[in-house]
Amino acid sequence: MARQKIPTTPFNDQKPGTSGLRKQVSHFRQPHYLENFVQSIFNALGGVEGAFLVLGGDGRFYNREAIHIILRMAAANGVARMLVGCNGLLSTPAVSHLIRKNDADGGIVLSASHNPGGPDADFGIKYNIANGGPAPEKVTEAIYRHSLSIDHYWIEETNAVDIDHAGTQQLGGMRIEVIDSVQDYADLMESLFDFDAIREAIRGGFRFSFDAMHAVTGPYAVELFERRLGAPEGTVVRAEPMADFGGGHPDPNLVHARALVEYMNSASAPDFGAASDGDGDRNMILGRQFYVTPNDSLAIIAANAHLAPGYRDGLAGVARSMPTSQAVDRVAQALSIPCFETPTGWKFFGNLLDAGKITLCGEESFGTGSNHVREKDGLWAVLFWLNILAARKQPVSEIVHQHWLQYGRNIYTRHDYENIDSDKARALIDALVTSLPSLPGQAIGGGRIAGADEFAYTDPVDGSVSEHQGVRILFEGGARIVYRLSGTGTQGATLRVYIERPETDGTIIEQTLETSPQDLLAEMITASKTLAQIEHFTGRTEPDVVT
Ligand code: G1P
Ligand code: ZN
Repeated sequence: MARQKIPTTPFNDQKPGTSGLRKQVSHFRQPHYLENFVQSIFNALGGVEGAFLVLGGDGRFYNREAIHIILRMAAANGVARMLVGCNGLLSTPAVSHLIRKNDADGGIVLSASHNPGGPDADFGIKYNIANGGPAPEKVTEAIYRHSLSIDHYWIEETNAVDIDHAGTQQLGGMRIEVIDSVQDYADLMESLFDFDAIREAIRGGFRFSFDAMHAVTGPYAVELFERRLGAPEGTVVRAEPMADFGGGHPDPNLVHARALVEYMNSASAPDFGAASDGDGDRNMILGRQFYVTPNDSLAIIAANAHLAPGYRDGLAGVARSMPTSQAVDRVAQALSIPCFETPTGWKFFGNLLDAGKITLCGEESFGTGSNHVREKDGLWAVLFWLNILAARKQPVSEIVHQHWLQYGRNIYTRHDYENIDSDKARALIDALVTSLPSLPGQAIGGGRIAGADEFAYTDPVDGSVSEHQGVRILFEGGARIVYRLSGTGTQGATLRVYIERPETDGTIIEQTLETSPQDLLAEMITASKTLAQIEHFTGRTEPDVVT
């Protein structure tokens, strides 16, 4: 078998974003595009001679071709051992777990997460380091640097690898182990949660529905919920992974998981509903006629963590990304544990988890996780809720309402303005940043601005500094409006506006349990448009997506 050295020239757009390199499939299929990026990863690691890596993806269009290319390149670059999910499938949290469990040097995840799949949709690739988490900025920056000067890559000539059956093969000097995608991950989940209590609840008539959105979690969910927990067949819907996610948008939110939301709002709704995204790291939690925001979900999981066997000994601390609501801060305060505020993106939690400073963490963008892996984990969050519901034997809505009455409620919404011209979006942010010094003291949106800044983060473990992580307008009393541009989009720019107001008056909380956050935040929503001159810069008067 021959190892080939292929000359190439750099692409100038291979800078990894919030979560790896994401582009349209057609972009990835340009000659040498994927190869350049993969070789840049290997080069940034100082070579991968003798390395042990994990490889898998969410099964989207181009997953299979990409796996074959990466296997050939890994072998040609001297990787000694590669674990691959059967059919090329591994959820993002499962990759994280496999890296950790097997002491691998790292792993490659193929996914564009919740973005649509198909020949005209998106693809993505990201490198995870030995702790199982996404590569930190110093590594992604190094990958980018190498991508700008690359002049050749290495690849094995052969294409003869079978990834559809478990077993061991040899490619050049590399040993390829194709493994069951689900088993190890399902065992980990069983070690963390009270499966007996959940099984008992299901036997007693507790009903739920999980929407796998034709994405990677289908096989995991069927194994966990239907086989191990004994839920009836059909509890998992849209269970079969598909290259185009059945034509859907595999993002578990109120817009894209509409069928599940309608079912949960119907007369025949089960007790609990949940969904996960393309690569299995996001989650959405629903009760009967009830939606739990990811912010509240994180806070409630933190407050009830002691009910799950894996967390019985308490939490070292918690963390949330800056735009995530401050609901979990209140729980941390009550538990007398630290609460960290990080920039957006899971990679910032890694150091805190590794250092044992936190046990749980989460983001407003439907991401929740813990120290069991170094990624957010959709099915883990669903199992945590199942565990809490089995232990407390109350409806979801009652648990949330009690939580608000005990800790206060952080009323919250996120408004996304999508596919804006990138220059206009940049101009909006620049103008907003320029206006920051003039804002404190202004009365607007039903409150008074106490401070305004651009969020910067100094990692408490390694001291690294990340700047320009979003604009914060902070109001007296804890309300906030936050603005930032998405780092995961593949077309134009997306402006995200996060609006939050805490309510601690128990009577008002009681009176507004059924009022929508859009109504409760109406004045601040108007202020969010005025402060950033959204219409002036973008021509938009309303957001495209409201969550
Ligand atoms: C989005 C979310 C962020 C999440 C990331 C990856 O990034 O906002 O919280 O970590 O997807 O799932 P953004 O597009 O905002 O940069
Ligand atoms: Zn995802």
